Amino acid sequence: MSDESELDVELEARLEQQDVFEPPESFLEQANVTDESIYEEFEENWPGAWERAAQLLDWEQRWDRVLDDSDEPFYEWFVDGKLNAAQNCVDRHLEDRGDQPAIEWIGELGETRTYTYDELHRKVNEFAAGLRAQGIEEDDVVAMYMPMVPELPIAMLACARIGAPHAVVFAGFSADALAERMNASNSRHLVTVDGYYRRGDALDHLSKARDGLELVDEEATTIVVDRLGDDAESALADEELDYDTLIDEHAGATVEPVTRDAEDMLFLMYTSGTTGKPKGVKHTTGGYLSYAAWTSHAVLDIEPDDTYWCSADIGWITGHSYIVYGPLALGTTTVMYEGTPDYPEKDRLWEIVDEYDVTQLYTAPTAIRAFMKWGEEYPDRHDLSSLRLLGTVGEPINPRAWKWYYKHIGNESCPIVDTWWQTETGGMMITTLPGISHMKPGSAGPPLPGVSADVVDTAGDPVEAGDAGHLIVNKPWPGMLRTLYRNDERFIGEYWDEYSIPDRDRWVYFPEDGAKIDGDGYITVLGRVDDVLNVSGHRLGTMEIESAIVGVEGVAEAAVVGGDHEMKGEAVYGYVITEEGQDETDAFREEIVAAVEDAIGPIARPEQVIFTPELPKTRSGKIMRRLLEDIANEDELGNTSTLRNPNVVHDIQSKVQGD
Ligand code: WTA
Repeated sequence: MSDESELDVELEARLEQQDVFEPPESFLEQANVTDESIYEEFEENWPGAWERAAQLLDWEQRWDRVLDDSDEPFYEWFVDGKLNAAQNCVDRHLEDRGDQPAIEWIGELGETRTYTYDELHRKVNEFAAGLRAQGIEEDDVVAMYMPMVPELPIAMLACARIGAPHAVVFAGFSADALAERMNASNSRHLVTVDGYYRRGDALDHLSKARDGLELVDEEATTIVVDRLGDDAESALADEELDYDTLIDEHAGATVEPVTRDAEDMLFLMYTSGTTGKPKGVKHTTGGYLSYAAWTSHAVLDIEPDDTYWCSADIGWITGHSYIVYGPLALGTTTVMYEGTPDYPEKDRLWEIVDEYDVTQLYTAPTAIRAFMKWGEEYPDRHDLSSLRLLGTVGEPINPRAWKWYYKHIGNESCPIVDTWWQTETGGMMITTLPGISHMKPGSAGPPLPGVSADVVDTAGDPVEAGDAGHLIVNKPWPGMLRTLYRNDERFIGEYWDEYSIPDRDRWVYFPEDGAKIDGDGYITVLGRVDDVLNVSGHRLGTMEIESAIVGVEGVAEAAVVGGDHEMKGEAVYGYVITEEGQDETDAFREEIVAAVEDAIGPIARPEQVIFTPELPKTRSGKIMRRLLEDIANEDELGNTSTLRNPNVVHDIQSKVQGD
C-alpha cells in the first residue's frame, strides 16, 4: 500500500466519524455574510429587516410598506414599490460590466456561446420587440416549452421586460402535460424549439409541441428556435414563426422596460400536488426577485466576478431562481449546460468547472450519488481548485454523499449549503449560511434569518428535539407564492388551513414535508408527507400518474407509490388491477408505461408495474399506500389490522417478489 492510499484510508475514516464541519477559513475571509448578528437583526426588526433583500434591487419607486398582512394569507410585500425584473437582471449592469459574460452556454456537442451583458441586453430587447409585434401585451401569459438553450432565459427576460408573465414547461414533459398547463394558464403564445441534442443524437421536440397545441383550447402563436439546423426533422409550418427571423426583423430595436408593481405576476410555474391537477404557482416581481437575489447573495455567496454554475434545468423552479433571476440580478456570470453529466464522458462537469474556473456549483443529491458511483477518478482528472462553495437542493442528501462531495469535489475547502425549499417558496428557506454556521451532513440547517420554521406534531405543537413531525413555516416571506393561478380557494386549502386554528389566531404555511429538529435548531427534512413523489429531485404527483394508468383500456384500478431507489431517491411503483378478461402480459405492462410517458413524460416512467387482484384498503375504502410502499421497499409491513382484507398484502408481496 502506498503512503498516499494509507492517508486516504485515514482521511476516509475521519470523515466517516465527523458529523460537524466548520466553514473553511479561506471562505470566511471573503464571504458576503459573516456577521452572526444577522439572525438577531431579522428577529428584532421583522419584517423591516427584509428591506435588506429589496435593497439589492433597483426600484423605480420605493415601497411604502415592507409587508401588508391585513388580508391573511394574501400577503403583499414591498407594497406600492415599482420595478422591472429585466431592467434589474440586465440593464442596470451595462454601465459597469457590459462586456462581462452574463451567460456562458455550453452545448452538448461541445459548441459554446458567450452572451455578455451588452449582448444579452440586445437580444432581450429584440425579442421583446418581436413579442410585442405578435400582439403580446402586458399580463398576457406566454408559455415556453424549451430545453437548456440560451433563447430560454432570453425569452423569459423579454417577457419580464414587457410585463408578460411566462409559464415555462419542462421540455421533458409530454405534449399532454404542455397542453394542460397552457389551458390552465390561458396562454395563447408558445415559444419552443425544433429539437435538441442528447448524447449526441438530435431529438425532435417540435412534433411534441405541435401535438400539445392540438389540445390547446385556443389558437396559439408559436415561435420556434432553430437549434438543430439541418438535423431538424421537418420545416416550419406557415403559421409557425422562426425565432431568428423575428429577431432579425427587430434588429437594434429597444423596448422600454414596463413599470411593474411589486405584486404584479412575474411568472407562473406549474408543480405537482395531491390531486391530479398541477398547481399554477404564482410568483411576483418585487418579492420573488428580492428573495432570489438575497438568497443568491447570502447563501450562494455570489459576487459579480464569479462564474457560478447551477446544473438544474430552467424548466424547474431551481433554474428560474438560481440560473436566471438570482444570479443575473446580482450581475454575475451564470453557466448554462445543455447536456448530461456523462456525455461524452463521465467527467463532463469537472471538465467544465476546470475550463471555466467555476466558483460555485449548485446541484442535486441524485447527481452526487451518480458521481459517487462512477468514482473519484473522474473529478481527479481535473483542477477543481476554482471552486469556493458547493450547494445541493431538491431532496435529502445522505451523509455519505455529502462527505464525498465535500472531499472529492470541494477538496475539503468549500462549505456545502444543503438548501431546503420548494416551487412555492420561490427561494431557499432552510440552510446554513456558509459564512457563519457549522455544517452537519444530512441536515439542511436552521431556517434563514427572517424565516420562521418549526417541526410540529399533529396538534401543531413543537416536537421534542430528535422526534419527527411536520415542517411548518410560521411567518410569511417575500419569495412566497401569492396564490394558485385563478384558484384562491385551492391556495388556502392546500397550504394554509391545516393549523389555522381559530384560538391560536395565526396562519401557518404547511409545505407537506416531514422533518426532525435537533437541539441546535438544525432541521433534517425527511421527505413528503402527501402523495407527491421525488424522483431524481423531480416532483411528481401520484394522482397524475394514477389517472394516466386508469385511462388505459383494460385497467380497473391503480395505486402509485414511491419505492426507495439507490440512485433516484425514489422510483415509481404502479400497482394495477386489471379488468375481467384482460391478460396480465408484459405487452400490457408496456402499454401502461407508455400511457404514463404520454400523459406526463419519461421522468414519470414506472420502475415496476405490478398486477394485483386487489389493493389494500381500509374498511372505509381508503387505499393504504404505506403498505404498498413497504412492499415496494421489501420492508417489514406496517400495521395491517385496519385492512378490510389483511391477506391481500401477502398476495401482493409474493407477486412483487415473483415479478
Ligand atoms: C424536497 C425544489 C430535503 C422537499 C426546489 C420539497 C428537499 C420538495 C430539499 C420541493 C432539501 C427540496 N432536503 N428535501 N435540501 N430541497 N426538497 O417544488 O420534499 O420541485 O417539498 O422544489 O423537494 O420540490 P420542488
